[in-house]
Amino acid sequence: MITMDNFVPENHPILREVAEEVQFPLDNDTVKLADEMLEFLINSQDEELSEKYELRAGVGLAAPQIGIGKQIFAIHLMEYDEDGNPTEPIMSQVMFNPKVISHSIENAALQDGEGCLSVNRNVPGFVPRPRRIKFSYQDEKGAKHVLRLRDYEAIVIQHELDHLKGIMFYDHINETDPWAKDPKLTII
Ligand code: NI
Repeated sequence: MITMDNFVPENHPILREVAEEVQFPLDNDTVKLADEMLEFLINSQDEELSEKYELRAGVGLAAPQIGIGKQIFAIHLMEYDEDGNPTEPIMSQVMFNPKVISHSIENAALQDGEGCLSVNRNVPGFVPRPRRIKFSYQDEKGAKHVLRLRDYEAIVIQHELDHLKGIMFYDHINETDPWAKDPKLTII
């Protein structure tokens, strides 16, 4: 299973490289990797397992973060009830060879900024990204899907997509004024 020990350090060059496209059909190692990446996220959001294995909670994990330069990321996003208990998954899958087809001109940013499992420190500031995206990806079988997402889901996907291009979330933060209130930026 994947634990925090599998993560490369923040300064590892693989986090700054463009990941390679995945060929289909998947080989056995890649099938196993994909399953383990999703399992990691599920475990990381589980109170008991995350404590037992000392996992930092995450909603997305890209292959370069664990030292594998392939265009693969896993997403595990749950919906929560008023008491903070998970109800049903909004998105829980592994995506291969994702590509943005189009995006909105309007940008959005999370009100508290972003974090990353590869970054063991708080980097404050708005991370502006297109508010809506249309993108394609392949599933485990190689079938192509097109998804349109907005707001939080779109931001999570773009954070992971960036990992496949060697981009870190803080590359998008305004260096001189991290919390600059741009009237054109929607805070969500
Ligand atoms: Ni990240």
